[in-house]
Amino acid sequence: MAIFGYGDIVLYSGRGCQSLSSEISSRLMVPLGGCDVIKFANENIFVRLHSSVRGQDAFIVQTTSSPVNDNLMELLIFIDTLKRASAGRVTAVIPYLAYARSDKKDQPRVPITARLVADMIQVAGADRYITLDLHAGQIQGFFSIPGDTLTAFPLLADYMREKNLDEAVVVAADLGFAKKARNFAMELSLPVAFIEKRRTGEFSSALTVIGDVKDKDAIIVDDEVNTGGTLVNAVQLLYDYGARNVYCCFVHPVLSGNAAERLGQLPITEIVTTNSIEIPHEKFKLLPKITILSVAPLLSGVINRVHEGRSVGEMFKPYHGYS
Ligand code: R5P
Repeated sequence: MAIFGYGDIVLYSGRGCQSLSSEISSRLMVPLGGCDVIKFANENIFVRLHSSVRGQDAFIVQTTSSPVNDNLMELLIFIDTLKRASAGRVTAVIPYLAYARSDKKDQPRVPITARLVADMIQVAGADRYITLDLHAGQIQGFFSIPGDTLTAFPLLADYMREKNLDEAVVVAADLGFAKKARNFAMELSLPVAFIEKRRTGEFSSALTVIGDVKDKDAIIVDDEVNTGGTLVNAVQLLYDYGARNVYCCFVHPVLSGNAAERLGQLPITEIVTTNSIEIPHEKFKLLPKITILSVAPLLSGVINRVHEGRSVGEMFKPYHGYS
């Protein structure tokens, strides 16, 4: 049924997140649109839709995980294709936004690539975007189109609450994550502690723990795990400070290089993450203690509300009560 003049929902998936898109499609009861996505011998990507989207409310789901630049380019080409096929509105659904860590000029002569990516998404023709746990909230300001920046932390919090850990503490993986860790702790009615981390390029070291973790179950929280260096250092430091068990909760399992192997060898109780990025089978089998929570209910709920012009904010009121 057409609502607000944008036609019906049409849903497409990039190749970066096909299982997540299929789950979203089942929940919305909207089949994934047929299309050809071809990478030619010269590495140029080509997209062709199998049916008309004229006047429709189009959603393209594509995560920008590895291969990052191919997936990003594919997203842009999909948006352009939908726009040129006269979709009524195009929404880019990006469960994980790459380059989000390049969000400021913190040294001379460096780019702000997150801004560039936001510009490219807009120039390609997106009317709206939906994304999950941006590395920094300020990145929303790089877009001048409306968007919904969602968080999967309530999902992670609900899962951890079920465990009824009696003596637990939430630990921010670094000071940049302090506020979000505090919100997560408040959600679970737990105290919070912070790790002081120093980073030089891709290498980081965990220096001290601020707060009491002795004889407690420590729940480390972070937005993403890339090389795994932050977690490896944090876990070691928490045991040095007397934690009895360690859980790791994060939204985006980037897991570059040998991160899965490193995490698989950590002396921890459980890793809890989401399917904002699909973990390839060869990495997944290295992670026996991992639990993956699906963000499909969240994304499909938001897509429905965006389509129907209903409030998205009211889905999150209890969690968003703190600033
Ligand atoms: C950094 O500010 C982020 O919140 C994560 O802590 C970081 O992306 C993790 O990277 P890695 O796993 O390479 O230490």
